[in-house]
Amino acid sequence: MERQEFLSKLGIGLVAVCTGCSLVSCGGKSSNPGPSTGGNTPPPAKGTGNLFNVDLSSQLPNIGDSTTQDGVILVRIADGNTAAAFTAVQVACTHQGNSIGYNAGQGIFICPAHGSEFSKTGAVVQGPAALPLQKYTVTISGSTLTVSA
Ligand code: FES
Repeated sequence: MERQEFLSKLGIGLVAVCTGCSLVSCGGKSSNPGPSTGGNTPPPAKGTGNLFNVDLSSQLPNIGDSTTQDGVILVRIADGNTAAAFTAVQVACTHQGNSIGYNAGQGIFICPAHGSEFSKTGAVVQGPAALPLQKYTVTISGSTLTVSA
């Protein structure tokens, strides 16, 4: 009789544990997006041709000024209206796709999500990102700057 009572209580205990499991961690939808890509998110598909234009007579006058369009961040990195005074790279971090920003003081792109750093040309300076940012071409005609793939 004592053994049966013990097993009965044990059964109730297991039901309680399993119920807790299904309510807390085992059942329903998970917000977990799945396994991490481990810092190897490939860059987005590269478009072709001209992506967008910027009027330099009214935009991006100061070093560190930036604009983001069509998945590309364009930054003024030096004085003057020459192509070398700008850099354009994909805005999505190659680690997990968060938007990067330009730190003018350090002269690098930084991802606020996990701290990856990229050079002005998009090369990885510090992980966890393992792949470089896609770099885009900057050309200038008059006061019109064009970013193209
Ligand atoms: S998304 Fe992880 S470092 Fe950018």
